[in-house]
Amino acid sequence: MTRPPESRIDNGQIVVHANGAAIPAVALGTWQSTDDACARAVGEALRSGYRHIDTAVAYGNEAQVAEGIRASGVARDQFFVTTKVWRDDMARDAVLRSAADSVRRLDSGPVDLLLLHWPNPDVPLADSLAGLVAAKREGLARHIGVSNFTLPLIGEAVRLSEEPLVTNQVEYHPRLDQGRLIRACAAHGLSLTAYSPLGRGALLADPVITAIAEAHGREPAQIVLRWLVQQPGVIAAPKSVTPQRIRNNLAVFDFELGEIEMARISNLARPDGRMINPAFAPAWD
Ligand SMILES: NC(=O)c1ccc[n+]([C@@H]2O[C@H](COP(=O)([O-])OP(=O)(O)OC[C@H]3O[C@@H](n4cnc5c(N)ncnc54)[C@H](OP(=O)(O)O)[C@@H]3O)[C@@H](O)[C@H]2O)c1
Repeated sequence: MTRPPESRIDNGQIVVHANGAAIPAVALGTWQSTDDACARAVGEALRSGYRHIDTAVAYGNEAQVAEGIRASGVARDQFFVTTKVWRDDMARDAVLRSAADSVRRLDSGPVDLLLLHWPNPDVPLADSLAGLVAAKREGLARHIGVSNFTLPLIGEAVRLSEEPLVTNQVEYHPRLDQGRLIRACAAHGLSLTAYSPLGRGALLADPVITAIAEAHGREPAQIVLRWLVQQPGVIAAPKSVTPQRIRNNLAVFDFELGEIEMARISNLARPDGRMINPAFAPAWD
């Protein structure tokens, strides 16, 4: 029987339990983190308590993520690594090859979570999922999931996958309502991972956010991240290469937002709130 994802406190952090995976609710994002800055950010994050790093083949930085992991000295069983297969590699064998290459570059054993980065209508979804399932069964990935999947695509992916999917990683922040997608994912046991959770920095000056931040004596980014991870089954992947911001973005487990504050932030959603919309994106819900 499918159980909805649950968010529980473990060692002072929220961990999202979804279809058998235990996923730390704040991940360090690494898109556009490159070279030494990426390695330093990953090292800083792990040393300061992050237990989840989010990367992708397309970010071109898996080797730098590995360098940061090595430099941190944090034991491998203490953290969770997510990576993603690019949309050009969606055929079954290409998914498998991509997964093997990621495992080699990340140099940390099997990845914890392997995602299809974007749907690709030119390749039957069943083939791509067969690749993910094979990657899991061959020991390259402990868990599998998807990214940028819409409501109909999630239904199809769940129907076609022979192994449980544990997350759908999509854009989510206060300007973009993802309520229907969160509920649809939860009905199948999937968590939702929020990318661009800070609206790429754009919404941190919003007066509603800054007023709530002031009331709690917190930074605007912490308010937005708390709003995300306080929702059951939601994970957030804020990106930063700035040490102080990296540390602050994790410090969201020692306060709570009230119901009215949660609702005020949810009310910031607007129809043009989406920020990431490449030409190859699916028809959004
Ligand atoms: N699956 C997908 O298709 C997909 C798409 C987009 C993103 N992602 C993932 O999601 C992650 C995050 O998304 P994102 O990088 O688009 O945007 P984001 O995390 O919403 O915003 C990152 C920006 O906010 C700044 N920032 C971070 N913490 C801050 C703070 N405490 N106060 C003020 N500014 C702060 C960062 O600057 P500095 O770095 O200069 O500190 C950076 O400019 C990515 O890195 C990637 O891992 C996935």
